[in-house]
Amino acid sequence: MVTGANGYVASWLVKKLLDDGITVHAAVRNPDNEKKIGHLKAAAENAPGAIKFFKSDLMQPGSYKEAMQGCELVYHTASPFTTDVKDPQKELIDPAVNGTSNVLESANEVESVKRVVVTSSCAAIYTDAIDSVNAPGGQLTEKIWNTTASLKYQPYSYSKTLAEKKAWEIEGKQNRWDLVTINPCLVLGPALNPHNTTSESVNILKMLGGGDMKMGAPKMGVGIVDVRDVADAHYKAGFVPNAHGRYITAGHNTDFLEMGTTLLPKYGQQFPLPKKALPKWLLMLVGPMTNKLFTRKFIRNNVNIPWNADNSKIKNELGMSFRPMRETMEDAFQVLIDEGILKGK
Ligand SMILES: NC(=O)c1ccc[n+]([C@@H]2O[C@H](COP(=O)([O-])OP(=O)(O)OC[C@H]3O[C@@H](n4cnc5c(N)ncnc54)[C@H](OP(=O)(O)O)[C@@H]3O)[C@@H](O)[C@H]2O)c1
Repeated sequence: MVTGANGYVASWLVKKLLDDGITVHAAVRNPDNEKKIGHLKAAAENAPGAIKFFKSDLMQPGSYKEAMQGCELVYHTASPFTTDVKDPQKELIDPAVNGTSNVLESANEVESVKRVVVTSSCAAIYTDAIDSVNAPGGQLTEKIWNTTASLKYQPYSYSKTLAEKKAWEIEGKQNRWDLVTINPCLVLGPALNPHNTTSESVNILKMLGGGDMKMGAPKMGVGIVDVRDVADAHYKAGFVPNAHGRYITAGHNTDFLEMGTTLLPKYGQQFPLPKKALPKWLLMLVGPMTNKLFTRKFIRNNVNIPWNADNSKIKNELGMSFRPMRETMEDAFQVLIDEGILKGK
């Protein structure tokens, strides 16, 4: 069973399960919305597995119970991933935390469930790139929890931290099913349904190709990982018997400028991609006026600060390897061009 099955990340996971001949119970908010689930139906038609859709909402207790019946493995991926919110408690924290409770309390009631894989995030480990510099050894690891996000500062990161803590709390009170969390950094790569995703991952690519950063990009430290690798990590977390605990799922330590310049050789002639770094002092001056998330605190803690995470646990225990960054960036960009979402000169 997969919650939020139509999402950017979950769609690749569902495709992988279907290609492997598995029956997937896809829990979505609106199973009648063809625009949101048509790509999953198409994936099932071309695969040996089968898909069944269920109507579920994170804010309704018991809403995932029917979809869970008969399933041994539950993937809980659904959670709002947006930075454009007016009321962070209502729009981010409540669906993330209450949704996790709802899904996991249902796992307590459905006898068939043996393992739950929760899509957490590196955001449950850190808020700003400076947190990785300040971490022991200058590197984020699975031992670290985010202590710097709050309802007022980076509430998405706060929602992921509280939701993952809730998951471990519920898991700790029973012993029929075990919990594994996948903690991806920024996920990029081709979208299976690029026209109908609200994921910030796709928005960032649109910003890069649409000219928002043509004067330059902030050298803001982040980790990135390919969406197809994230699906693979979820798959392994579900099926490797000894998988346990949290798994940082990060392919490359990079920054926004490098993400843009990686695209230059193939797309630099046609698209207004960033070619140079924006100076920090300039960002401090104009950043807060251009984007409400670009506060001085955020700029101070992220721009010209390297990001560093240790991805050895997932490599050693689940046998993960990660695609080259160029492949991720080019494949992601090409889908947006092919679908007419990004238009060149
Ligand atoms: N993309 C990244 O860079 C990244 C990095 C780390 C972790 N993650 C995590 O990965 C997961 C998937 O994110 P994504 O990037 O794939 O974003 P996405 O495409 O926006 O997917 C989010 C999913 O959650 C569902 N959802 C949101 N609110 C809901 C509610 N109240 N009830 C039921 N379903 C609800 C959405 O359903 P609708 O389509 O109906 O809105 C959608 O299926 C999230 O847990 C996110 O925190 C993402």
